[in-house]
Amino acid sequence: MDFALPLIMRWIHIGSAITVVGGTVFTLFVLLPAAKEILHEEHLKLRAAVLKRWKWFVHIGIALFLISGLYNYLVVMRPLHKGDGLYHGLMGAKFLLALGVFGLAEMLVGRSKAAEKLRHNASKFLTINLALAVIIVMLSGFLRTIPAKAIPGGLPANRVALPD
Ligand code: HEM
Repeated sequence: MDFALPLIMRWIHIGSAITVVGGTVFTLFVLLPAAKEILHEEHLKLRAAVLKRWKWFVHIGIALFLISGLYNYLVVMRPLHKGDGLYHGLMGAKFLLALGVFGLAEMLVGRSKAAEKLRHNASKFLTINLALAVIIVMLSGFLRTIPAKAIPGGLPANRVALPD
């Protein structure tokens, strides 16, 4: 059953990415353009009702990303990539980019006065956040293709947590 927890964490990580990145695509390309077609007053009501629900997906999504991602890195991947500067360097870059995405996402769903300007330009900042998230997904896919140095023959990292 050694493979069960890594597998569950992987499901959680991928599930969070599908939910939060998918929700951002929907908001940017469907919800915001559609909302422009209704009256200003109604627009504001819709915006408040959407944010009231969506913010929980953002808060919980970030918590799940951090729990599953840190587990995936510290427990599963780090020992397999010991001494591999490329892997850990790219992982560090991914982590920093993810923190940036989380911060921007929180400001967009939050109520702080300081971030009001951002919320007035929601389309622009959602586009930036989505572009960063796409880079993170591409980086993550690349990380999976880096062979694990700790395994003789350098099997791909995604093979090693599973039983034979
Ligand atoms: C915007 C936030 C994030 C997105 C969209 C994201 C997305 C992804 C995706 C799509 C994968 C590939 C999943 C798979 O094939 O199993 C992945 C893997 C991974 N993620 Fe994330 N992730 C995010 C944040 C984080 C954070 C904060 C950490 C914490 C350090 C993290 C650590 C990892 C690790 C260690 C892997 C496995 C890499 C490998 O296979 O070598 N991720 N992530």
